[in-house]
Amino acid sequence: MTAPVTITVRKNGSLLVTGDVTLLDHEGKVIERTPGKPNMALCRCGHSLRKPFCDASHKAHGFVDPPDVPADAVPAP
Ligand code: FES
Repeated sequence: MTAPVTITVRKNGSLLVTGDVTLLDHEGKVIERTPGKPNMALCRCGHSLRKPFCDASHKAHGFVDPPDVPADAVPAP
């Protein structure tokens, strides 16, 4: 049985992906993960030099989460 995939939004940082997931580029080619690492951190600040992975550049660039949007401000799907 495989572990469910979990994506965690880190405060002022990356998206932490855990679980058995395959990462593909825009052409459908597999992007290799770091061997032996069960998790991967994906950049969401746009400053990483190792995209799509986070290289901690968000810290040097002062990336800050946008403010939370109240639930009633989001239109229903
Ligand atoms: S989120 Fe870490 S470098 Fe972009």
